[in-house]
Amino acid sequence: MAIVLLLALSSAASTARGIEGTIAPASTGPGVHRAVHAFGSSAQTPARSLWDGVYVAEQAARGQAVVARHCGYCHGDGLTGADDPPGPPLKGQRFLDRWFGRSLADLFVVIGVTMPRDDPGSLSLEEYADILGFVLRENGFPAGDTPLPATVEGVGALKAILIQPEPKR
Ligand code: HEC
Repeated sequence: MAIVLLLALSSAASTARGIEGTIAPASTGPGVHRAVHAFGSSAQTPARSLWDGVYVAEQAARGQAVVARHCGYCHGDGLTGADDPPGPPLKGQRFLDRWFGRSLADLFVVIGVTMPRDDPGSLSLEEYADILGFVLRENGFPAGDTPLPATVEGVGALKAILIQPEPKR
């Protein structure tokens, strides 16, 4: 699983490798930057926004159970972080500040390629998609009608969706 994601998303995956072993300030890989930039400059398809709802409620509910089994002992079942074994919070302002400006594909790949830290890449794409839905829900992003994809191509398309604060209307 990890290998497939790595191959299909090599530009985003370099970010994932860069982030492993550090919870220091967020850095976006140049490849991802280029991909996002290229997409933004093509006027045809307006990018979907995270605030339109990019996961369905059922995914987040399933993801909560997956997190409790595979992630909670390091990150807390409620994603608020833990000390022993240590894992940073996966919700809240500090987490979001690290991720604003990066893509949903980046976050998917960091989770899918480097986590669970003691058994990276061990879950199915469906389970990783469900986890991402739960992480989004817990960070206040709305559910919608379109499920997060559980195919490699689908995850690649998430490069076009940026993690960003709610746009002012
Ligand atoms: C054995 C402990 C452990 C487990 C289990 C674990 N993690 Fe982590 N996780 C960490 C540590 C430590 C870090 C910070 C250092 C790093 O990135 O490796 C981290 C980092 C992360 C990050 C990046 C956080 C940021 O602010 O950028 C995400 C996202 C993440 N984990 C998600 C998950 C998910 C989802 C699971 C379950 C599938 C999981 N982790 C399971 C220990 C763990």
